Amino acid sequence: MSDITAARDAALADIARATSPDEVAEMTTRFAGKKGELAGLKKRLGSLDTIDEKKVAGAAINEAMSAVDAALDERRAAVAADAMRQQVENERLDLTEYVGKPARGHAHLVTQAWERLEDVFVGLGFRVAEGPEVETDWHNFEALNMGEGHPARGEFDTLFVDHVPPGGRPGTTVLRTHTSPVQIRTMLTEEPPIYVIAPGRVFRRDTPDATHMPVFHQIEGLVVDRDISMADLAGTIDAFTKAFFGKGWNSRLRPSYFPFTEPSAEFDIQRPDGSWIELGGCGMVHPNVLTAGGLDPEEWSGFAFGFGIDRMAIMRHGVADIREMFSDDLRFAEQF
Ligand code: PHE
Repeated sequence: MSDITAARDAALADIARATSPDEVAEMTTRFAGKKGELAGLKKRLGSLDTIDEKKVAGAAINEAMSAVDAALDERRAAVAADAMRQQVENERLDLTEYVGKPARGHAHLVTQAWERLEDVFVGLGFRVAEGPEVETDWHNFEALNMGEGHPARGEFDTLFVDHVPPGGRPGTTVLRTHTSPVQIRTMLTEEPPIYVIAPGRVFRRDTPDATHMPVFHQIEGLVVDRDISMADLAGTIDAFTKAFFGKGWNSRLRPSYFPFTEPSAEFDIQRPDGSWIELGGCGMVHPNVLTAGGLDPEEWSGFAFGFGIDRMAIMRHGVADIREMFSDDLRFAEQF
């Protein structure tokens, strides 16, 4: 009996010290297996003299085996739980760095201005028109009353594309230098009355500095209807100025020159503090342009305007350098 008790206590003491699943597995074989110590004692039962002695000793061995089995089960579960805890701890990712930072971005300042301009003009009854960024010389210049060799072409530092259209001449594919070719495309595809705006990206061969970028954004406006006059143009510019900038803002037209409008003007807007800022160009659509657009200048008249979206956003928000608008610096973008 003392051998049984000693074997059981030794086994229980060892089991209690097991710290890994491997150790528990090894002890299961050692203490509960067929070749274990208690199994060995069972074989000695035959050497006992009486049935009663065998019964008592047999029952004691079974009890000891149950106690060892129970201890093994408990230890197995405990080390498995420990192992799991350890694994979770080891594989834990520290995400606290990201907590509290805004997960969502927002539209870029240029996009915000672009979309607000669309909203304001749509509110005034205009539709949004589009044209390609890679244009033909004809749409970008010729049809806009700037024939080959026209001096005004020199003012648009044009980027040419190495592409010769079928049946066309080399050097006649350009990156559009303004949104005005959308005037031509709209007149050629739509019947008047036409009331459209065309926001988009334009390109000029410019070295970037505080006020110039080789890529920037313009918004074009085109109205073609019967009996359109300069007064309609001035009224539309003023209505836009007040709707976009606020009631305290005014506008004015100053005589100017563009080959595709006649008469032409620059338009300025006046801040509530009285100071004027130059915004863009405009004028009555030139008869040659209406003709290129497939319209009879005796029947139809219209006005057009165009101005820089980036420039306007810069003035509105007091940005010092236009290059900021095209940088990927979040410290700039997050301010708007
Ligand atoms: N396209 C002209 C420019 O880029 C602006 C303009 C548009 C002027 C429409 C008159 C009418 O400078």
